[in-house]
Amino acid sequence: MADTLLEVDGIETCYGLSQVLFGLSLSIRPGEMVSLMGRNGMGKTTTIRSIMGLTPARAGSIRFAGAEVRQLPSYRIAKLGVGLVPEGRQIFPNLTVRENLVAAAADRFSSPNPWTLAAIYVMFPRLAERAANMGNQLSGGEQQMLAIGRALMTNPKLLILDEATEGLAPLIREEIWHCLSLLKSRGQSILVVDKNVDHLARICDRHFIIERGKTMWSGTSDQLMAEPDLQHKYLGI
Ligand SMILES: Nc1ncnc2c1ncn2[C@@H]1O[C@H](COP(=O)(O)OP(=O)(O)OP(=O)(O)O)[C@@H](O)[C@H]1O
Ligand SMILES: [Mg+2]
Repeated sequence: MADTLLEVDGIETCYGLSQVLFGLSLSIRPGEMVSLMGRNGMGKTTTIRSIMGLTPARAGSIRFAGAEVRQLPSYRIAKLGVGLVPEGRQIFPNLTVRENLVAAAADRFSSPNPWTLAAIYVMFPRLAERAANMGNQLSGGEQQMLAIGRALMTNPKLLILDEATEGLAPLIREEIWHCLSLLKSRGQSILVVDKNVDHLARICDRHFIIERGKTMWSGTSDQLMAEPDLQHKYLGI
């Protein structure tokens, strides 16, 4: 389907003998910002790991930009244009901020307006100030900005954030949400996991709620906010 950027259809994923995803499905259209919600341990990170090929799904289909990617190694999936901001950031502690960004840079000839170091520094002035600092000298918020900047330097068609604002101070969270809405307004397609339903409802186009490895509900922000029962039942709010 040309109007779908990512189509995850009925995937099943296991860690060894322990199955975690049981026929999970979701989809993202170009330019959409979509959330993946669910209580702790329901399989959000595993879904992202399956999309990225880090923990490959053993059944189902994952189509990205028209290609079946379920069985591809993760470096090929990244190269096709999926950029990940992983849970726990995972920036290089022994590289400077600038080196972390440059190390990720990828020239995507298909990208009409590729990211540059200068453009990342405009989005996150804090990173410009910290350009010569090592990754392990950064605060949590700065690390998350760097992780986002690093993912953007690969010029992803789809940016995925696992726990976008977890563990960050309120002001820094606001900065991250602001950055995500700027990216969305530039047409960046985004899949985001976060616990803040109000923020997600404000910023995302559509939502997928998962429960024990299955998609239980999907809908728009208006539909989500109109169903407090849903939030109570599946998100524990
Ligand atoms: N490496 C692993 N080996 C075995 N089981 C795992 C592994 N990683 C996760 N699991 C299990 O898979 C299930 C789903 O975990 P997952 O991390 O995908 O959930 P999540 O929705 O991201 O949770 P959280 O909100 O806590 O981040 C959990 O029961 C978890 O214990
Ligand atoms: Mg998780």
